[in-house]
Amino acid sequence: SPTRIVVDRTAVGADVPRRLFGSFVEHMGRCVYDGIHSPGHDTADGQGFRADVLELVRELGATVVRYPGGNFVSGYRWEDGVGPREERPVRLDAAWHSTETNQVGLHEFAEWADAAGLEVMEAVNLGTRGVAEAADLLEYANHPSGTALSDRRRDNGREDPFGIRLWCLGNEMDGPWQIGHKTADEYGRLSAETARMMRFIDPTVELVAAGSSNHEMPTFGEWERTVLRHTAGLIDHISVHAYYEEDPADPASFLASGVALDRYIGEVADIIDEVGATTPDGRPIGISVDEWNVWNQTRWNEVDKPRVFTGDWPIAPRLIEDDYTVTDAVVVGSLLITLLRRSDRVSMANLAQLVNVIAPIRTEPDGGTAWRQTIFHPFALTATAASGRVVVPSVDGGTIDTPRHGPVDAVDSIATIDGDTVSVFFAHRDLEAPTPVELDLGRVADVEALVITIPEGGDRHTTNSADGEPVAPLDLPVKVGDDGILRFTLPALAWVRLTAR
Ligand code: AHR
Repeated sequence: SPTRIVVDRTAVGADVPRRLFGSFVEHMGRCVYDGIHSPGHDTADGQGFRADVLELVRELGATVVRYPGGNFVSGYRWEDGVGPREERPVRLDAAWHSTETNQVGLHEFAEWADAAGLEVMEAVNLGTRGVAEAADLLEYANHPSGTALSDRRRDNGREDPFGIRLWCLGNEMDGPWQIGHKTADEYGRLSAETARMMRFIDPTVELVAAGSSNHEMPTFGEWERTVLRHTAGLIDHISVHAYYEEDPADPASFLASGVALDRYIGEVADIIDEVGATTPDGRPIGISVDEWNVWNQTRWNEVDKPRVFTGDWPIAPRLIEDDYTVTDAVVVGSLLITLLRRSDRVSMANLAQLVNVIAPIRTEPDGGTAWRQTIFHPFALTATAASGRVVVPSVDGGTIDTPRHGPVDAVDSIATIDGDTVSVFFAHRDLEAPTPVELDLGRVADVEALVITIPEGGDRHTTNSADGEPVAPLDLPVKVGDDGILRFTLPALAWVRLTAR
């Protein structure tokens, strides 16, 4: 029997935070160099940024970009990246065992982000550095003029302040892999004092404290509690980082990763409530899921990491350039559904990363092409349509038993309503059989549905590549009945965006 889904247009929930569609550019692997920036490329502009990549970034529809790390930021000196390029120092990047040329820094990146229509979310180094350097960077970036730091910015070619609102207070400081790793109390104190000084300099900043690096960290929970006790009243968001990977023996649990993310967000929300953590104006603290994606970490630990960390110190080595499958695309689409559903607590989110490094966009070097991975599509289709208010549909349909997360809905869905336009997003987790759906949206006209699924002649492991993009949105036929009900069939393993007015 068909799965019946009802979207009650009057039962609107939270506003869709447009910052939910953030991305992430780290000085890591080929994300910056040989990714967005490649001076030798045919399409490079005067600064060395690739126009073909910029075009794909715009098409992706992201809203925010976190920068410059990630683990990289914990050893970074921001001053290295400003001033005349020929005078910038070359440094070891101990986080990724690479050589950093500093040819891209704050000025170039902010201009590029502006051209891409992205709000910069800047991270400060709380690994090897502290309050003073974070305050210096903020003053350099945001103070109008008349001080040594702000005038240095102007001398370096940027008269107007960058006006960066969003700031991350370090990155994954709970992780023993992090440069300058800290205990929760050490980090809590340092981030509170950094936040205090940053607010003195620019009271309009929005600050993100670093939560746990992942849900499985032994300190998860206690870390958040301690950090929130130190920083409540000084910060606006606390971060969640969440990466998922397929265990080839258990694809069902992988397809239910959205359920795991939902629970993780719920647990952090409970801790925020338990600590009673609020911002200076009394608002509750938001959750910034500022790194999330599918990431084959087994391959990273067994193949990539040993290779890189025993080698030389290369410039822009290929690091975690995962090739995404159809299954990965459905999981990414389903994680977006979770983020939308939890936008009552999630204030923003960043798909990690943007180009080459676990990314929706890949580039070939030496004048090569730029192309879309499978996961590009659910992200772009959601980012360009989800707006207004969130509505959680009621679903009456089958479930799938998963070894790790118990029974989950075979069809996961969320809707957004903006004026007359309703957008409904579906992830179909059944690997074997199609599912007929009856969708009740109330009155409808102008229905359009696009599906990402297994392409003809492919299988669930099909990937895109520089040679072709077989995984791309296709039209999904939808019938509108005399009763106003929309009827369509979700193919096995699929992600769908349906819009109607
Ligand atoms: O996104 C890749 C890395 O994953 C980031 O540098 C780090 O913050 C996380 O562990």
